[in-house]
Amino acid sequence: MNSVATGSHTPVLLTEAVQALVTQPDGFYVDGTFGRGGHARAVLQRLGPQGRLVAFDKDPQAVAAAAAIDDPRFTIRHAGFADMAAELSGMQSGMGADQGGAMAPVHGVLLDLGVSSPQIDDAARGFSFRHDAPLDMRMDTTRGETAAEYLARADMRDIEGVIRDFGEERFAGPIARAVVARRESGSAVRSTGELAALVAGAVKTREPGKDPATRTFQALRIHINAELEALQQGLRAALLLLAPGGRLVVISFHSLEDRIVKTFIAAESRDVVDRRAPMAPPRPLLLHALGRIKPGAGELAANPRARSAVLRVAERTAVPAGVRQ
Ligand SMILES: C[S@@+](CC[C@H](N)C(=O)[O-])C[C@H]1O[C@@H](n2cnc3c(N)ncnc32)[C@H](O)[C@@H]1O
Repeated sequence: MNSVATGSHTPVLLTEAVQALVTQPDGFYVDGTFGRGGHARAVLQRLGPQGRLVAFDKDPQAVAAAAAIDDPRFTIRHAGFADMAAELSGMQSGMGADQGGAMAPVHGVLLDLGVSSPQIDDAARGFSFRHDAPLDMRMDTTRGETAAEYLARADMRDIEGVIRDFGEERFAGPIARAVVARRESGSAVRSTGELAALVAGAVKTREPGKDPATRTFQALRIHINAELEALQQGLRAALLLLAPGGRLVVISFHSLEDRIVKTFIAAESRDVVDRRAPMAPPRPLLLHALGRIKPGAGELAANPRARSAVLRVAERTAVPAGVRQ
């Protein structure tokens, strides 16, 4: 495990997210994306002596950075937020708190999606086309396939689908063909610089102010880290963990993520009739959508990363006893 914890990250929508999240000073909160702990530290500042915060991150460097927080109310776990329910249950049973099988109610779950500035800025992580380095792109560097390994073995149609679906890239076909042609000529793409140059050659038009490799790099990162699947699983886990009145706060950075969050909250904010049993009482509302916040002009001027951020907040409803969820 790489334990070097360098770099800083300016948290996006910090005040808004923490205000929306923390409704009970002595509550139990989850930060699913610790990063460098900007949001986590602000949550701890708002919590009282009995409050607790458990944070997760897939990235061992983020987990190492969390060692700087010396606070008995805080715990960090090296795990994906998709696994938060199992992780919390394991922690609570380990502490002997789960004798009756019930989990401590969670009062708020925060997900600040995507990559952190240290991940982008550290060339060795292979996330950025601005530096030449091995094409890695894994958030969890302890497991899984790197982007270079994926491009060296995947089927052309698969590569094209990833670049088209997760990068919304018009030139996904030519890019995938170029990747495979290069591989078949005996020099598979191994570095960020090689991929950026190959994409620049295959993308025939230019978007103002945008490097032609932006969409392909985003697509590969989403695929390598299974980001959209993790988001779906994390949202569902959060819903099951939240106590009535508990808050779900999600900050997303591109339309694919925001669409998933928006659709999830909308679906759980409606009475759903079971089509197989239309006479049965509808499944009750599990969430109330509380709204959407975008960064203000001051934050946008100070932090370019905030440009595409959207924060959505929802509150877990109280479901009457005996009603199926
Ligand atoms: C935008 S940064 C979070 C920044 C953080 N809120 C702060 O203030 O420093 C996103 C972090 O989430 C982590 N991450 C992304 N997907 C994850 C997942 N499925 N499970 C756990 N951590 C994840 C990344 O490794 C990264 O450190």
